[in-house]
Amino acid sequence: MKALLLAGGFGTRMRPLTERLPKPMAPVGNRPWLEHLIAGLKEQGIEEFVIAVKHFPEKIIEHFGDGAKWGVKIRYTNEPVPLGTAGAIKNAEPLLDGRFVAVNADIVHRADIRSLVREHERTGALVTIGLVEVADPSQFGVVEQAEDGRIVRFVEKPPRDEAPSNRINAGIYIMEPEVLEAIPAGREVSIERETFPSLIAAGRRVQGADIGGYWMDMGTSERYRRIHWDLLDGKLELPLAEQERGGGIRIGEDTEIAQGAMLVPPVLVGSRVKIGERAVVGPYAVIGDDCVIGRGARVTHSILWDRCTAAEAAQLNRCIVGSGLKIGARHLLHEAVVSVITEAETI
Ligand code: GDD
Ligand code: MG
Repeated sequence: MKALLLAGGFGTRMRPLTERLPKPMAPVGNRPWLEHLIAGLKEQGIEEFVIAVKHFPEKIIEHFGDGAKWGVKIRYTNEPVPLGTAGAIKNAEPLLDGRFVAVNADIVHRADIRSLVREHERTGALVTIGLVEVADPSQFGVVEQAEDGRIVRFVEKPPRDEAPSNRINAGIYIMEPEVLEAIPAGREVSIERETFPSLIAAGRRVQGADIGGYWMDMGTSERYRRIHWDLLDGKLELPLAEQERGGGIRIGEDTEIAQGAMLVPPVLVGSRVKIGERAVVGPYAVIGDDCVIGRGARVTHSILWDRCTAAEAAQLNRCIVGSGLKIGARHLLHEAVVSVITEAETI
């Protein structure tokens, strides 16, 4: 079974981090989420991928190439204009054959794809939508199910008091190829607003099944941060390159920590990082590879992507800092989400 990864959205709610980066390439635990996603699906037996790109496509294509480095086969589709979630699936039709799994590439999850496929086969559905329960469904696609799990209503982002349930579309679909016939070609089509409601109205079997395991939509900076705290707290389990040093401290290779610097767990520090004297890193800090934390600097509840500098005595609290950004000496940043267009600029 091939996997089709939808990775062409503009990531507007995660700007400025996604100004020049596809959202699925945002690092989770110091590694692009898309790498984790592909590795996780590969573990479940999927070895052929189609990635539907659009926003800064070269950032994905140059990173993954043909997939050989990851032991998988990857092909790409692009869209002259954004085709929407169903349009992107239709656009990939020539690269698909047989049953496939389509996945929103911006959701961080440990879904059990095999059990979704079993449920799909058991019910003989045309589409099986992976579901998850959330407290506030208004930001998602919300479903109403019959006793047998069949979806009888699908409503995208309803007002909170009109949501038919708390069970939402997790963004993972097992699909029979006949679904492609139901999607018009050459125009923007939303799977959530158009395809699913019309399949249901036509009486086709659209099944809902729990995905099991961790799930979080990366969507906003707030949720992006929460994913990291879940990772540090062990609620989200991902293979990380950094070694556990005990007590909730993980450190990569060739990282130098000066005498008198303090790592306060839980904390994740990448490789080749330099942490200066009397600096304090953590609790809840994720420091990317090749970062420099200057003397007396303090980084708490923050995520720094690769190659960032927090110069002497700078203080960062509840921040997300895009790759290569330099925070000047004694600068104070609180609840900031910052990125640079060209690396090596100072704010
Ligand atoms: N190729 C391509 N082209 N990909 C697209 C396009 C497009 O025009 N539009 C969106 N995508 C990709 C995004 O990159 C993302 O990975 C995925 O499709 C979903 O788009 P989002 O913009 O992130 O949608 P959402 O988070 O508001 O809602 C969707 O996901 C929820 C679960 O996280 C819906 O599918 C909801 O029903 C669902 O609950
Ligand atoms: Mg999303």
